[in-house]
Amino acid sequence: MEVDSKLLNVGALLIATLVAAKIIAAFLIPRSRKRLPPVVKAFPVVGGLLRFLKGPIVMLRQEYPKLGSVFTLNLVNKNITFLIGPEVSAHFFKASETDLSQQEVYQFNVPTFGPGVVFDVDYSVRQEQFRFFTESLRVNKLKGYVDHMIFEAEEFFSKWGDSGEVDLKLELEHLIILTASRCLLGEEVRNKLFDDVSALFHDLDNGMLPISVIFPYLPIPAHRRRDQARKKLAEIFATIITSRKQSGKSENDMLQCFIDSKYKNGRPTSESEVTGLLIAALFAGQHTSSITSTWTGAYLLCNQKHMAAVVEEQKDLVKKHGDKVDHDILSEMNVLYRCIKEALRLHPPLIMLLRSSHSDFTVTTKEGEDYDIPKGHIVATSPAFANRLPHIFKDPDTYDPDRFGPEREEDKAAGAFSYISFGGGRHGCLGEPFAYLQIKAIWSHLLRNFELELVSPFPEIDWNAMVVGVKGKVMVRYKRKVLQ
Ligand code: HEM
Repeated sequence: MEVDSKLLNVGALLIATLVAAKIIAAFLIPRSRKRLPPVVKAFPVVGGLLRFLKGPIVMLRQEYPKLGSVFTLNLVNKNITFLIGPEVSAHFFKASETDLSQQEVYQFNVPTFGPGVVFDVDYSVRQEQFRFFTESLRVNKLKGYVDHMIFEAEEFFSKWGDSGEVDLKLELEHLIILTASRCLLGEEVRNKLFDDVSALFHDLDNGMLPISVIFPYLPIPAHRRRDQARKKLAEIFATIITSRKQSGKSENDMLQCFIDSKYKNGRPTSESEVTGLLIAALFAGQHTSSITSTWTGAYLLCNQKHMAAVVEEQKDLVKKHGDKVDHDILSEMNVLYRCIKEALRLHPPLIMLLRSSHSDFTVTTKEGEDYDIPKGHIVATSPAFANRLPHIFKDPDTYDPDRFGPEREEDKAAGAFSYISFGGGRHGCLGEPFAYLQIKAIWSHLLRNFELELVSPFPEIDWNAMVVGVKGKVMVRYKRKVLQ
């Protein structure tokens, strides 16, 4: 009897152990099966950070051939996982804010933009503020902005002599600030306060350093000047807004759109919010556009074939419309559009886009490999690297605007996220049409009115800038065309 009960106990124990093992396995095995992305080899603790700081694109160029399109870099106490190429980056661009958010990674903008806007507010408020941006950049508004763009370009280049030599980079930077001031900040700033406001924006700009990304409130002179400039700008705009409201005057500029904007609950925007949104718009659009204008010029001046094609397009448009240039005529400049787009493919000013992941997700590479990205990782993709992938773009380092023509359409061949100079998906650039119109307005004026020649060597990339641009001067000799 005793032997039987012992046998029974052993049997029960065996079954219980098997059941327990099965339950534990059910919980543990999927975890152990997680396929984490390969990790970049680096010295312990700070090795990853050093490689990143030395140059993220250099690191990507070295690691992509070894590790493929998905890999992780350890950055001290954070992991950053790179998703390179359209096959693996769809989730990056399309995920909801609860899964992949911008707020944490772009938090360093808060002291520059100011309180109560963009990355300082919950996503629901931010979405409403982005609706204000969208409204202010609709076609009916853009049509009015284009008139300002044309006027500013004509006035600016009328000050050039009949012939001479200029640093094209500096000239275009200046013109873009003038145009952006007129279209975004309004005529009060453009006509009366331009020097003061430009100087304040300069201080804001200089207050955004690589160190500011990690320590945005570090008590250094550049941050102190940034904070003072932000305060003064708020005062200037408060005065302008009050005066507009009192006079009942309504202008066609982004400032007016923000003043007139209302949240869903009926609350109008405050003066501080309007100032913050304008600063955000200027930060998003100014350097990016002036850098792209300069690269476009540098490439056209070094490529006879494409230069001839854009000049020909201008001649055809003059035949068709006379000297007039407006929104619809700019929209007909497809050859120029492709030349700008190609300069921007090779040189996207925002080289790295970031998100913070709040839930696990899986990506499948084009080779069919699955990787599980755990929540808590920073997730990154790189326009500067992905825009030159040879399986998407033929001869990726060659300036070839025809790749976007109707027969090739390389920007679409591998799906929506093949060409990502303007990002894409949920947070795609809201200012893309504005940027193209502005750059086209400038270049159509230059092409119609001047013979141009690049007299300095083809420019290099300034990798050290926060918004990656053109290194050094871009010297151009110009001669005003004698118009028949
Ligand atoms: C050549 C010029 C420009 C380039 C290359 C550019 C590039 C970009 C990129 C890559 C993003 C996505 C950022 C991300 O996903 O993290 C973005 C977003 C944005 N851009 Fe632009 N941009 C340009 C001009 C402009 C202009 C002129 C404006 C406004 C006047 C503007 C307003 C915005 C805004 C508001 C967003 C945020 C959209 C969102 O998060 O929903 N951009 N831009």
